[in-house]
Amino acid sequence: MPAHARAVPADRIHRLLNHGPTVLVGAHHGGQTNAMAAAWACALDFTPPKLTVVLDKATCTRALIEAEGGQGRFTVALPCVAQAALVTALGTTSAVEVPDKMERLQSEAGLRWQSVPGHAGLPLIEGCVAWLVCRVLPQPALQQAHDLFLAEVEQAWADERVFHGGRWHFETADPALRTLHHVAGGHYYAIGEPVVSPDRGTRA
Ligand SMILES: Cc1cc2nc3c(=O)[nH]c(=O)nc-3n(C[C@H](O)[C@H](O)[C@H](O)COP(=O)(O)O)c2cc1C
Repeated sequence: MPAHARAVPADRIHRLLNHGPTVLVGAHHGGQTNAMAAAWACALDFTPPKLTVVLDKATCTRALIEAEGGQGRFTVALPCVAQAALVTALGTTSAVEVPDKMERLQSEAGLRWQSVPGHAGLPLIEGCVAWLVCRVLPQPALQQAHDLFLAEVEQAWADERVFHGGRWHFETADPALRTLHHVAGGHYYAIGEPVVSPDRGTRA
């Protein structure tokens, strides 16, 4: 596993996405590994944890996920401020046009990844602050009409320096570990300061 990764309990996994980070979606099929940036990722359910992600039909990453069959696995990783250039590179280079995208970005943008334990080739991108292994919940009509994929999260880990006790603690960690939130082009915001309201017993 990547450095500092610690398992996140199933009933806390939705909190990894509650604050709306831009993510990296990773896939593997037939000896090919790929990853792309995705701003349109969202928590969908508590337990079992589920999420949605929008994957354009033109992307290689989607093609690899679909090639795995109806319930193919993919990964979602949460990149941090230190990786902004890598996120833009993964989101502006397509393996459809650049078949050696992953190798090229290793040398040009510092991309490093390792496989999900037990799933050779399915990428966990190093330097991120959380990683989720997802299995597609097939919804062919949504996938076709809206490019919308629903998935159940099977496993998740987060960087213990910024996520512990079941929640994020960006305010007490290195600012380079803050998550990215896409605005437009290569422009992002880093997650900001905490705002604590009176506890109304909300679950999320
Ligand atoms: C910050 C950022 C966010 C993006 N968000 C999405 C998204 O949510 N869904 C999507 O289909 N494409 C999104 N893209 C575009 C893909 O990442 C892009 O098409 C990528 O080149 C696809 O790579 P691939 O063809 O190698 O899979 C985003 C790009 C950037 C830079």
